[in-house]
Amino acid sequence: MDKIEIKGGNKLEGEVIISGAKNAALPFIASTILVDGKTSITNVPSLMDIKSILLLLQNLGAKCEFNGNHVMIDGSTINNTQADYDLVRKMRASILVLGPLVARFGYARVSLPGGCAIGARPVDLHLKALESLGADVSIEHGYIEAKAERLTGSEIYFDTPTVTGTENIMMAATLAKGVTVLRNSAREPEILALAEVLNSMGADIKGAGTAIIQIKGVKALKSTELSVIPDRIEAGTYMVAAAATCGDVVIKGCNPDHIGGIISKLRETGTMVDVSDHSLRVRGIKKVKSVDIKTLPYPGFPTDMQAQFMALMTIADGSSMIHETIFENRFTHANELLRMGADISISDGNYARVRGIKKLQGAQIMASDLRASASLVIAGLMAHGTTSISRVYHMDRGYDSIEKKFLQIGADIRRIRDN
Ligand code: UD1
Repeated sequence: MDKIEIKGGNKLEGEVIISGAKNAALPFIASTILVDGKTSITNVPSLMDIKSILLLLQNLGAKCEFNGNHVMIDGSTINNTQADYDLVRKMRASILVLGPLVARFGYARVSLPGGCAIGARPVDLHLKALESLGADVSIEHGYIEAKAERLTGSEIYFDTPTVTGTENIMMAATLAKGVTVLRNSAREPEILALAEVLNSMGADIKGAGTAIIQIKGVKALKSTELSVIPDRIEAGTYMVAAAATCGDVVIKGCNPDHIGGIISKLRETGTMVDVSDHSLRVRGIKKVKSVDIKTLPYPGFPTDMQAQFMALMTIADGSSMIHETIFENRFTHANELLRMGADISISDGNYARVRGIKKLQGAQIMASDLRASASLVIAGLMAHGTTSISRVYHMDRGYDSIEKKFLQIGADIRRIRDN
């Protein structure tokens, strides 16, 4: 398994260009299942998770070509509606193929996503909503089976806003008979982007980006060309890294409107953030102020930025309370930060009290999930001495060219390949 080695202490300076968003590209790719034809997608990030979903689509019979950041998918050749355990277990977001498969082919058998490092993460809300659209849903031998000759529009209320749940059901409802209304939908920018994509394929969706989404079903969707929106979490990660190293970094090709919660919190720490149309300049200060954080559904502070902020708070002036409200067991990075000398205490599983210290020390540490790995890279960048991070395959799931991008802005970082 590859490792990342970082010699800490360099100020990050220069420009970094943000890639397409993993969490937008995944549902965009799943949506091509709905189309009996070719879909072209540009600005696709080069990531393990993207490779995983393309492999899954190929296994369903779709023709997929991946050239640089351009993907072409032909859904007309799909001849299999089963998503196998070996493909699904690698990535929970594989569940996104369920809605489109049932909507277009009337039947799907999709492995239940396996265990996950960041809590139970059930899919019950996806299944309840599909049943409400008239699908006959059962779980047999670890597989979800869903059947419906044609889905029927319905009123659906999500008990909690679920991002992939909203996306799955929005896709399924595009081909349903009649009107579907989704209430308490997730409002993440990736959902609005997916609705725009589906509308460009001929769907009739209104209200995406708000809690109430209305979808008028149509008979078929058509081929189209799409481009993936910028990755707001990748942008946020480089912003925190700039702040953590007292650097001066321009983050280009992002959408600042999607990053409001992160910009506000960083400014609260004393970090200077200048906002332009498609870029941000982040200038760090010598000692950031501690801030409290509570993760919430969008437009609240994203859970996917909690780990990176925790790393920053380890060297802040004062003490910070971090409250994780979206997922259980999402503090695994805290144990690794402790190995670097941080002062963190966890209570009730979802609260972390972080008392700022002078400096972290480089250490041998281990990544436990995607965003935890980003937190550890930030910690390594600010630490005294060398940090070696193992299990970086977690990071490769979601960060495009991360060492290259950090190298370009002055980090002393290298990958040690396991041959
Ligand atoms: C998506 C993102 C992930 C992000 C998360 C929260 C993708 C591919 N992944 O994950 O990066 O961290 O949103 O912003 O876009 N829940 C249920 N039952 C369900 C579904 C969800 O109880 O059927 C709960 C979850 O356990 C969690 C909450 O709802 O407590 C929100 O999870 P959800 O929005 O579904 O996360 P994902 O879509 O898996």
